[in-house]
Parts: sequence; C-alpha cells; structure tokens
Amino acid sequence: MDSVDDVLRLTADYAAEFHRTIDDRPVRATASFEELREALGGPLPEESSEDVQVVAELIAAAEPGVVGTQTGRYFGFVIGSALPASMAADWLATSWDQNGFSVVTSPVAAAVEDVAAGWLVELLGLPENVSSGFVTGGQGANTTALAAARQHVLAAAGWDVAREGLNGAPRIRVLAGAERHVTIDRSLRLLGLGTTSLEIVPADGQGRMRADALRAALEAGKGPTIVSAQAGNVNTGAFDPLGEIAEACERADAWLHVDGAFGLWAAASPRYRHLVEGSERADSWATDAHKWLNVPYDSGLVFCRHPDAQAEAMAVAASYLQRGGGRSPSDWVPESSRRARGFAVWAALRVLGRSGVADLVDRCCEHARSFADLLGAKPEVEILNEVVLNQVLVRFGGGDETTREVVRRVQEDGTCWLGATHWQGQAAMRISVSSFRTTADDVERSVGAILAAAATVSG
Ligand SMILES: Cc1ncc(COP(=O)(O)O)c(C=O)c1O
Repeated sequence: MDSVDDVLRLTADYAAEFHRTIDDRPVRATASFEELREALGGPLPEESSEDVQVVAELIAAAEPGVVGTQTGRYFGFVIGSALPASMAADWLATSWDQNGFSVVTSPVAAAVEDVAAGWLVELLGLPENVSSGFVTGGQGANTTALAAARQHVLAAAGWDVAREGLNGAPRIRVLAGAERHVTIDRSLRLLGLGTTSLEIVPADGQGRMRADALRAALEAGKGPTIVSAQAGNVNTGAFDPLGEIAEACERADAWLHVDGAFGLWAAASPRYRHLVEGSERADSWATDAHKWLNVPYDSGLVFCRHPDAQAEAMAVAASYLQRGGGRSPSDWVPESSRRARGFAVWAALRVLGRSGVADLVDRCCEHARSFADLLGAKPEVEILNEVVLNQVLVRFGGGDETTREVVRRVQEDGTCWLGATHWQGQAAMRISVSSFRTTADDVERSVGAILAAAATVSG
C-alpha cells in the first residue's frame, strides 16, 4: 500500500499544476460523456490497487471531462469559482473526515458553522437571532425554508404538520412570481404541497413579481399563506420589489420567503444593497455560498426568523444520538450525517473579509456591465435585460436561430463558456459573471470570441 503522504502529495501537486495552467486550457470539456465513461469504465476490479496508481488514473481519465469553472471565463448558469483558501479548507474537512452532524460527532465542525453563520447574518443584513442551516445548495435551502414555513403557517391554524402530516390539514396557499426559480416548484413537490398549491403572480418584463398583483391575490383569498419572492432572477438578475412585498405579507399575515440564491449577496455591497431593501423583513431566506461567495460545491445556506419552526421541521432525536452542548448543525437541515460545510464558508469569509465580499460583488457587476456595453455597441446585438447585477441576456441578429447558433459556436470555440436560455418568448445568450477570477481582460477576450462567432453565423 502506498503511504497517505504519497497520494496526498500527488493530488496537491496535480491540483497546483492544474491551477497554474488553467488559463491555457479550453474552458469547455474536451471529451464526451461516452468517451469519459469509456475511460473510467471497465469491469468492477476483483483485486485492490495502489492509492497512487488509482488517483493517477483518475486524473488522466477525468481531466478531459473537467469544465473550466475555475477560470475567469466561465459564464454559464450561475457558477462561481472556488477561492483557494476555501478550497483548501474544504480539503481539510475531507482530510479530517468530520461528520457535521452534532457537537459530539465533531465539535469543530459545529463550532465553525456557528461562527460562519454569525458572520453571514451580519454580512447579509439579516435580523439577529435567525436560525441557519448549511445545506447542499439553493434547492436544499428553499426546501428547508419552505418546510419551516409550512410548519409555522399550519401551527398558526392549529395544525402540527410535523406530527399530523398533511392529510386533513388546512390548505396552504403559496404565492410566487411567474419567473420564480424552478427549484421552488420542486420544493413544493417534495413538501407534499404540490405545484397546484401555487398561485402564480404575474411578473414584469424583467421577471419581477408585480407587487400590485400580489396585493390583489393576497386580498382575494385567506388561510395559511406563504409568499415566495426572489432576489435575483436567474436570467435577468432582477429583484422582486421586496419592500412592497414585505409590506403586503405583513398585512396579510403571510410567511415571506426570499429565494436569493445569488442575489442576496448584493446585501454585502454598499453599492448594490439597495436592491435587497425589504428582504430583512422576510421570514426565511435561501442563498448559496457555491455561487457568488466562490466556495467549492456544494454549499447552500438557509436562514429563518422562526428557529422553533425550522427545528420542529428538521431536528431528530434518538437515544444513541449524543449531541453535546452547543448548536447542533443537523437540527436545522434535512440531513443527519453530513459534510462539514462550515470550514469552506468560514475560510472564504476570513480571506475576503467584509470589503472583499463587497468588492467581489461589485467587480462581477462591473464586468457584466462591460459585457453589455461592448456587445450592445454592435448594431446586430441586442441586450434584452436591464443589467442591474451580474446577469446579461444577449440576442443576435434579431432571431432565435441565429442566437442559438452563436451560443453553440462560442461553446465549441472554448475561449469562454456561456449558455443559452429563453427569455419571455425569445432565445437569448446568457452571461453570468460569478467568479472572483474574472478580469477586464477575460471580458475583452470573451467578447472577442463572441463577436467572432457571431460574425461566422451572420457572414
Ligand atoms: C434564484 C435561484 N434559486 C435557486 C437556485 C438553485 O440553486 P442550486 O442549484 O444551488 O440548488 C438557483 C440556481 O441558479 C437560482 O438562481
């Protein structure tokens, strides 16, 4: 058997080399799923192998399938890079192999989460004394928050859903904007509320829920009510009018959830904080550290104004599950044994500090603005959204086919990577600037590649 030392050194050396050469690699993966399956496949080995050999083989087989999300020229979905200290802290979580279940399974995993949660509450401008949970991502955060909401609004109607379930429970109304993120719907499916519990509130041309329509819908019905608002639309980056929405929810005694998977980070920037004004009045919040905080996957965050509701929905107890004194991480999430996610978040916050997070948000937004300015200056290019944050929607030659073909050619070229979407009836190229690594030079190179691709399509 090779020593632990050898295999860890091999991995660290390779990772350092990967990062040193990242700028010279194509941003897209260069192998197909089938090729990768072939390279990684074969029969289940009968015999054991040496650690070093296995890891070396994994590197060789996997590398062509690695997507360049660690570069500054990856603009797909809303995917940030991983800050080096955060990545290293995550390796430590693995090296220590801590189970972040409770204070007993890992006092340090529990403590580091507790500290990081306190910093996050401050940074994101949330009320003191909110409860928090470190989950897999925005999906997990939305589901956890909506589970707490379900618990709370039904308790107010005299129904303990944790004990009695949903059979025979009062019906819950869930109001959400027409341009909500699709994970809200999955959360409703998982929580037994179903998507027919949704009352869809019309959105405007930027995807913002219309507050007047929400007010009317709230007045038109009664009973336990949850409103799911959004800070940062996944296509346009637009924010629902959170102040007006909070006001309407307070009047209707409705639970307000804010899905701020990336947009909530605007709260950390004095320049962009105005966009989330009113979010501090919500009952629950979902966001991601693996998006804009540039923490490695996976890392989502949920916060709740009503700790009792969150704990009633999530916590478990059994005679063998010793807990220890202090905040028990698993009381606030749907998992029992779990990754110790606090280390990576703690390291990101420590290395950036308050000003570094603000700077990260500001820089990404400036780069998004540059994309819009440089591309929008061309007569054949249209910018479809108001660029209020880090998202840009671009359309080429006024046509769906042309736009999709430009995206395809940019993806194939490999200078940068970005995706396609459909925005309110029109195909669009979708640019999301979410990496701490993106520089003005990355933007210029990418704009050059995009315009070159567009020229080959129209020419
Ligand atoms: C607004 C919003 N909510 C939720 C999600 C889901 O986040 P995750 O993929 O981390 O589960 C996203 C992802 O882009 C999002 O933009």
